[in-house]
Amino acid sequence: MADNISEGKRRVVVLGTGGTIAGRAATAADNVGYIAGQVGVTELLEGVAAPTGIALQAEQVAQVDSKDMSFAIWRRLAERCAHWLAHADVAGLVVTHGTDTLEETAFFLQSVLAPVKPIVLTSAMRPATALTPDGPQNVRDALAVASSPHAQGVVVVCAGAVHSAFDVQKVHTYRLDAFDSGDAGPVAYVEEGALRELRRWPVSPPEPARLCFELMRHAVQWPRVEILMSHAEARGSIIDALMAQQAGTAEPVQGLVLAATGNGTLHEALEAAALRAQAAGIAVLRATRCVQGRILPTPSAALRDAGALTPVKARIALMLELMSIQAGGA
Ligand code: SIN
Repeated sequence: MADNISEGKRRVVVLGTGGTIAGRAATAADNVGYIAGQVGVTELLEGVAAPTGIALQAEQVAQVDSKDMSFAIWRRLAERCAHWLAHADVAGLVVTHGTDTLEETAFFLQSVLAPVKPIVLTSAMRPATALTPDGPQNVRDALAVASSPHAQGVVVVCAGAVHSAFDVQKVHTYRLDAFDSGDAGPVAYVEEGALRELRRWPVSPPEPARLCFELMRHAVQWPRVEILMSHAEARGSIIDALMAQQAGTAEPVQGLVLAATGNGTLHEALEAAALRAQAAGIAVLRATRCVQGRILPTPSAALRDAGALTPVKARIALMLELMSIQAGGA
């Protein structure tokens, strides 16, 4: 653990979780054939100057390719974030993370922590060993945001843009500017270490988050919520098969998120099966598979909608809601 705390300085704590930003390839020319999650967070900070008046501290929380993100890592990461945020001299946190599930982790942390101080997730599209890696500049920008007195809540910093955890989505497979906030647009830009703010920082009410934090910490098993997509010739048989195996499995499905077409519409066969599942006690939520916009509610809808949440974020919201219901909290 790197620890260069200096007397009287505010701290930014950098938590490493792996990803391409910590990836290593056999040759510097290779931007895609690398192994993610190889370089330690302390090493990632070498050569990156701390913002003026800020001391950096590093902690390795995990070392994974974020496609393999797990509830166990989320729990540990949320606990470490809560631990560091409670220190008065900690201005904010930076979390280095893979790009593939970054938006899920960001939304999860916002949901269970609702922090007043900034938690800034950052990443890279090229491995640390690349000829021109993008990670060091992203880390530099993330440190600028985490130490800013204006920044709040969980945000993602990539390619000079600051995105809120609510809106951010990975939208490109290889470009360095791989994230987008859709209609909402970014919260700010980082311009040579200075923030140009465009809109309000993301905030959510702290009380539900506090409850979720305690529930997720102590839950032996987090509710199983599956995502299914509606598409041409979609079948209800996948839902029926899940329902049929409920009694014999140690981890029964408790919720379904349906990645719906357009304004939350579903293939009639999938919808019929989803209604059967809902009648049997499964929580069902529709989220649009469109990359922009939100579901505008229709009063007659028999299945709830997730508004602006993407299917992966709706899944997290439903999982936390189920935890809360099971604990008698809602
Ligand atoms: C990962 O998500 O861990 C690998 C891909 C990336 O970071 O771009």
